Amino acid sequence: MDRRKVIKGMAAGIAGLPFIQAKASQPRISDYTSYFQSDVSSDEKFWKKFRKDFYDVPKDFINLENGYFGVQPLPVQKAYLKNIEQVNVNSSRYLRTTYREDYQSIVNGLAAFAGIELEEALITRNATEALNIAIQGLDWKSGDEVILSGQDYYSMIETFEMLEKQKGIIIKKIKLPLLPKSDQEIIDRYREAVSTKTRCILCTHIIHLTGQIMPIKKISDQFKPQGIDVIVDAAHSFAQIDYQLKDLGADFVGVNLHKWFGNPLGAGLLYVNKNRIKDLKPLYGDSGSEENDIMKLGHFGTLSVPTVLTIPEAQSFNETITIQTKEKRLRYLQNYWTSKAREIQNVIVTTPSEAKRSCAIASFKVEGKETKKVIDQLFEKTKVFTVIRYLPDQEVVRVTPNLYNLTEELDLLIDGLKSIA
Ligand SMILES: Cc1ncc(COP(=O)(O)O)c(C=O)c1O
Repeated sequence: MDRRKVIKGMAAGIAGLPFIQAKASQPRISDYTSYFQSDVSSDEKFWKKFRKDFYDVPKDFINLENGYFGVQPLPVQKAYLKNIEQVNVNSSRYLRTTYREDYQSIVNGLAAFAGIELEEALITRNATEALNIAIQGLDWKSGDEVILSGQDYYSMIETFEMLEKQKGIIIKKIKLPLLPKSDQEIIDRYREAVSTKTRCILCTHIIHLTGQIMPIKKISDQFKPQGIDVIVDAAHSFAQIDYQLKDLGADFVGVNLHKWFGNPLGAGLLYVNKNRIKDLKPLYGDSGSEENDIMKLGHFGTLSVPTVLTIPEAQSFNETITIQTKEKRLRYLQNYWTSKAREIQNVIVTTPSEAKRSCAIASFKVEGKETKKVIDQLFEKTKVFTVIRYLPDQEVVRVTPNLYNLTEELDLLIDGLKSIA
């Protein structure tokens, strides 16, 4: 058979996915720097051009489900494709020679971006892995108690449920207020669950179900002096809202880089306060490292090297836009649709409206309507793609715009909601 035909056939056969090519002459984010020095959060004309220059958006639906992972901006995608090629061509010679240096410089840059020290940073494959290393690394004793909430991420809850079976720890699951009136109301829920046996609190910085932002610093300040470790799941807050990991006051934080940071899928970051590294036992086999060396926690085998190599490009995209600008625009988009949705009869927004308690993510339900029907009808009527999320006692529709979304798309969501509700 003709060799070219075989190759063509093979390419078409790879999951039948269209091959994505970066645009020919790619605008540079650095050309936009001056725009980000003023408040562009409500400037639709600006964001329209930004979207055209930096994103490939789907033509046949409107993606308002950017909570799963963040679409890579085109310069990041282009760098990723180049890195795949480079790693493949130079192969193990690269990994065995200069990669080590490149890796160190990438971790160094990422640590500075995250506001932590180099020796406190470990690149992982995702947030789940980062958090498992911290959670399973603590020296649990039978009878130790952990406090978590039904709104934490299911994989983290399951990690504790596994430790419950394996080590006899006790889980105290609290119910968090959906629309808290104050930080104290939240802190009180944890306080009521604390006992002399409490060893740890797991807390999600931005709750993936509703977008609620938790007062992590206050929780750390209240409970750490009592000898309680606070482990923070910051999967959604990293590069969505403007803060540094150390601002959380917790000793253990897990994040991923493929949601709001916009890196290719398959990278995360674990922060461990340098004074606490010695308190974590490696989850993966290690025998030779110093007890204070965070690398003792990193024996998970080969990472996706092209994914790691793309981190600086994603970081530079974030740094040029600035996280302040991202946070403002994302909150603007969320407020744009939630303020209208709150006016629609039978629509209940399940996300707090106070600026400090929410940003990009918000959720809602329609009274008297099955949630699955709501998302299906929304898609049929408007081509707006959303997702169901399951709170402990109810289902909601989660809506998550990203930087490339425009208010005209949110208008379609609202039109659809009006006709459904
Ligand atoms: C709150 C929260 N924590 C953790 C995770 C897991 O992230 P990863 O897929 O990077 O492990 C997610 C993913 O959606 C999440 O929403």
